[in-house]
Amino acid sequence: MTKNLNYNNEFIKSIAEKFPTPFYLYNESTLRKNAQLFNKAFEWNKGYKEYFAVKANPNPELLKILKSEGLGCDCSSLSELLICERLGITGEDIMFTSNDTPQAEYIKARELNAIINLDDITDLQILENCAGLPDVISFRWNPGPLYNVSSVIGNPVEAKYGLTSEQLIDAFKAAKSKGIKQFGLHTMIASNLLDENFFVTASKSMFDMITKIKQKTDVNISFVNLGGGFGIAYKPDQKPIDLIKIGTEINTEYTKSGLEKFSPLSIFTESGRLVSAEAGVLVTRVIHKKNTYKKYIGVDASMANLMRPGMYGAYHHITAIRKSDSENCSMETVDVVGSLCENCDKFAINRELPVLEIDDLLVIHDVGAHGHSMGFQYNGKLRCAELLLEQSGNIRIIRRAETFEDYIATLNINKW
Ligand SMILES: Cc1ncc(COP(=O)(O)O)c(C=O)c1O
Repeated sequence: MTKNLNYNNEFIKSIAEKFPTPFYLYNESTLRKNAQLFNKAFEWNKGYKEYFAVKANPNPELLKILKSEGLGCDCSSLSELLICERLGITGEDIMFTSNDTPQAEYIKARELNAIINLDDITDLQILENCAGLPDVISFRWNPGPLYNVSSVIGNPVEAKYGLTSEQLIDAFKAAKSKGIKQFGLHTMIASNLLDENFFVTASKSMFDMITKIKQKTDVNISFVNLGGGFGIAYKPDQKPIDLIKIGTEINTEYTKSGLEKFSPLSIFTESGRLVSAEAGVLVTRVIHKKNTYKKYIGVDASMANLMRPGMYGAYHHITAIRKSDSENCSMETVDVVGSLCENCDKFAINRELPVLEIDDLLVIHDVGAHGHSMGFQYNGKLRCAELLLEQSGNIRIIRRAETFEDYIATLNINKW
């Protein structure tokens, strides 16, 4: 089955003539469209905000685009906070959701006045000791046996994140007794889920939990962060989720919950994938063909550029752009591989593709989230460039490719 590529072949070929492969190519229009979709789906909620999960794609040029669409940032590390600081993203435009948190990160989050979302009941005291308590605090709920949904994050009971339902009650009581004035509840238990009902059911559990917290602690929760995990149709035969429908049904659950009677609740989300995945492709060139027990197509990108297929067995659709664009070319079944000394360095296994020649291009789809940001340097492989196709049609390098000098820049060698 084929999957629509947003670009025509000649366009990709012309970019690959100007810029050395491999490179990521992001599309500003797609990014804006996706950001606007979130705002539309939850426009019924006055305080709604999507906090883009910076870990999915921390390139500041993309964050600037998302900021201009009214999105905030979900940060989970010091570097992500520092990027936001440099972009002038501070205060309630940042939600800081970390775990096993180094104190320096709490200190920075406090300095930026970010909304801090605590991962453990002991973190309240740790935060107070190292950075002082803010007026606003949120806790991450791990619903444990209530759900078993996600292959990446794992069964919630086995997941290291969040507080148990019982701990949550004690945590809110403790926070209130310490003078904290405003409270939020967060959860993030799904990853890449296409089941629309899940998100509605999960929001209902959140609303139920908020009612319970209100009854048991007299704490008024003013915002609820439903997390990310909205899936995309990586495979051509998958049906994309309907975010507008999810938003509408969550509105119905919210109305049914009766929470509006206490005080209006702001709904937050922190999606990465659904915002940016489809806005990015990885363009790579065929450099090798090998026939042994299987047929291999070797490309100039590797798992160091895109880890998801090797790490999770994740499917990314591949469009072949051949030098000779004849209509009826034959197909063959191949593994598309990179050059790492790791057998899992494969972008596709047993994939049916047109018969390829050296120098043909492959476009790997849906890599704008958890793509470049998960890159690494094993085998001395260097991270590739990121390009942005602006709405004007202009193409800009928004991160250059790493060089050997970058690779050795942190070494402290007396003499080579
Ligand atoms: C705490 C948290 N929030 C949000 C996200 C974004 O998830 P997704 O890109 O699947 O929406 C992640 C992903 O790892 C996460 O760990």
